[in-house]
Amino acid sequence: MKTNVNLQPYNSFGFNVIAKHFVEINDARELDRLFHTPEYKQEPHLILSGGNNILFTSDFYDGIVILMNNKGIETVADDGEKVVVRAQAGEDWPGFVKKMVEKGLYGVENLAHIPGKVGAAPIQNIGAYGMELKDSFLKCEAVDLETGRKRVFDNKDCMFGYRNSIFKGKLRGQFIITSVDFQLFKHGELKLDYGNIKSYLNEHGMEQPALQQLHDAICAIRDAKLPDPKSIGNAGSFFKNPVIKASEFKALKQRFPSIPSYEEPDGKVKVPAGWLIEQAGWKGWQDEHVGVYEKQALVLVHLGNGKGEDILYLAKQIQKSVEEKFGIKIEPEVNFV
Ligand code: EPU
Repeated sequence: MKTNVNLQPYNSFGFNVIAKHFVEINDARELDRLFHTPEYKQEPHLILSGGNNILFTSDFYDGIVILMNNKGIETVADDGEKVVVRAQAGEDWPGFVKKMVEKGLYGVENLAHIPGKVGAAPIQNIGAYGMELKDSFLKCEAVDLETGRKRVFDNKDCMFGYRNSIFKGKLRGQFIITSVDFQLFKHGELKLDYGNIKSYLNEHGMEQPALQQLHDAICAIRDAKLPDPKSIGNAGSFFKNPVIKASEFKALKQRFPSIPSYEEPDGKVKVPAGWLIEQAGWKGWQDEHVGVYEKQALVLVHLGNGKGEDILYLAKQIQKSVEEKFGIKIEPEVNFV
C-alpha cells in the first residue's frame, strides 16, 4: 500500500488529487489480503477503474483508493456460433472491443473507443450508437467489500437502465466487479441506424460495412466529436440526456421547433442535453481553467491548473440556465467524490 499518491494520472479530468492510501490490484485474489489490513478496516475506500467517469470535488481523498488492474481475456464457451468471452475488470475497454472485432465477434462493436476499463462498464451500463453494454452482458463476478464473499450477478440481477445499474443504485459502493462475461456471436447484423453512422459510411463509400469497418468508422466519428482525455481533461458526457413526458415535449417542440428527440419504448421522450446546453449559450464557453467543449456541449473540459470544484461550479451554472430556459433539470452522469 502506498501513501500520499497523486491521482492525476488516474482521473481523466487530470485533476491533482492526493490519496492518503493507494493500492493496485493485479489479481482479484489480492483483494483478500487488502481486506485484512488495518488500514482497510479503519478507513473509507474508493474503487477506481479507468477514472473516466469520476469528478474529485476536493484535492485530498482521506482513505484508500483501490485501483483495479487485473488483466486477462479468455474464451470460456464456444458452440460454433455463440461465444462467451471473459474479461478481467482491469482490461482496457476499447482494447477489449478492438480484440473482439479482430476475432470477428459481434456484440460490442458500437461501443468502440469508449475510454475506460471492463470492470466499470456495467456500473453505468455504457452505451453509444444504439448499443448498450447490457445487450452483450451475460454475467459478472464481484466481491462483497464488507464480507469478502464472491457473488455472481447475471443480466437481470444488474437491473440495467439508461446509464444505470444496481451498482450505481441499491448496491452502490458495496461490490467490486472483478470480471465480466460477454455473450458474443460469430455472425451478426450491424447496427447502423443511430445518428450519423450511416451518413459517415456513405460518405466513405461503405454502404455495407464489414465488422472491422464499422468499428473503425465509430472510432473516427468519436474522435471528431469527443476530446481525447490524454490531451484535454474530460469525463465524456458530463450529464445524462433527460427523459421527459410526451406532453412536456410537445409543448417544448412548439416553442423550439428544431429540438432533436428520441422516443423511448415507454412513450417518453429523450432530449439531447448537448443540444439544450448549446441552446443555452454554453458551447465553447471557457475561462482560464475549465470550459464546455466546442464540438460537443455535453462534455465539460479541464484546460489546465483547475480543480474539481471549478467543474462543479460550472456544472451548476449550466444546470441552472438550462432549467431557466427549458424547465428541464439535467442530471450529471459523472460520479462525484
Ligand atoms: N447536439 C447539439 N449540440 C451539441 C451536442 C449535441 O445540438 O453540442 C445534438 C446533436 O446534433 C444531435 C444530438 O444532440 O442531434 C445528439 O448528439 P450526439 O449524437 O453527439 O449524442 P449525445 O446524445 O450528445 C450520447 C451519449 C454519448 C454517446 C453518444 C453516441 C449520453 C449521456 N451520451 O451523446 O456517450 O457517445 O450518444 O451514441 O447518453 C458518454 O456517456 O460519456 C458518452 C460520450
